[in-house]
Amino acid sequence: MQNYFYNMRIIGTGSALPKFVATNQMLSEVMDTSDEWISTRTGIKRRHLLVNQELEEIGVEAIENALKDAGITAKDLDYIICSNTVNEYITPGLGCVLQGHIGATCPSIDINAACAGFLYGMQIAESFIKTGVAKKILIVAAEEPSRIPTWTDRSTSVLFGDGAGAVVVSAEGDDVLAMRSTTTSAPIVLYSKRAMEKTPFVGEIEGNVPLVMNGREVFRMAVSNSQDDIKAVMEDANITSNQVKYFVLHQANIRIIEAIRHFLDEPEEKFPTTIENTGNMSSACIPILLDRLNKEGKLSKNDILVFSAFGAGFQTSACVVRWNK
Ligand code: UT7
Repeated sequence: MQNYFYNMRIIGTGSALPKFVATNQMLSEVMDTSDEWISTRTGIKRRHLLVNQELEEIGVEAIENALKDAGITAKDLDYIICSNTVNEYITPGLGCVLQGHIGATCPSIDINAACAGFLYGMQIAESFIKTGVAKKILIVAAEEPSRIPTWTDRSTSVLFGDGAGAVVVSAEGDDVLAMRSTTTSAPIVLYSKRAMEKTPFVGEIEGNVPLVMNGREVFRMAVSNSQDDIKAVMEDANITSNQVKYFVLHQANIRIIEAIRHFLDEPEEKFPTTIENTGNMSSACIPILLDRLNKEGKLSKNDILVFSAFGAGFQTSACVVRWNK
């Protein structure tokens, strides 16, 4: 068991999805795919996509829901940590843009740890709280991964949906029981590149490279690394899987979730999902799923939750949290 004590409590959650919904059937009308293939290989039936709507809009909606749930205003925030993989701006960071929209006055920082970014944000927030940098922190994950692959590639484009999730954490509690993040540099398995501008010294513009993914390798690494992370944080927190109310996992593929579930030998009802209706929303998956559980009244005081996410990098993160709201 670890000797480190964490100071942090989740005091509010919020989420928002784009209005436009694309079903598998709709995708099969614009590319060579089928509802049968997508459903059986991934568990996805439909996804929300940003169409005639900005990422900022759903980011603000998710944040405002989380602030309301926490019973505080944007002015009460001491820090904003924004997890984002891609958006229209290269600079400034999306967190900076959102800070202005919600009327906050605190500093903000963006992090890009791909699909694991929200949990990396939780770990950074905990350090800020522990070291006295901030007492109330907003962690927002706002993502539009549907714009990373080319939609001529059926093997990647069907997997993603857009969304935003947010939590407010505070120093008034010790409800994080364990945290762990890992990075295993392997960009080759999952990457995308953005074109850079020409300079007088660099004549040739390197082209844009839409998402490239070795699906099988990502699948293998996801299952293996997530299992290691979950085992490690449960050991650190000195808990067994039967004490856990919910495993709140990254929503990339139902078969990955099932593989982790079989490893843990726990029943299906302990693995809530959104994937059927949302697809993979990168780092927004976990805060959106948590918000659903919270707003649907499925969480009670002292419930133990295990979070685990993986993504490009290869980066993973997991933590154990006691729900105490
Ligand atoms: O945060 C991002 C994280 N990414 C992931 O978590 C992805 C992890 N990997 C996976 O989820 C799975 O590997 C996929 C769902 C992406 C693919 O499933 P798979 O069982 O590994 O399929 P595959 O890539 O081996 O492809 C099997 C077949 C191929 O056809 P052939 O070569 O056997 O004739 C593909 O061309 O399925 C074909 N295929 C499709 N068919 C219909 C690939 N995409 C599609 C599609 N519709 N959308």
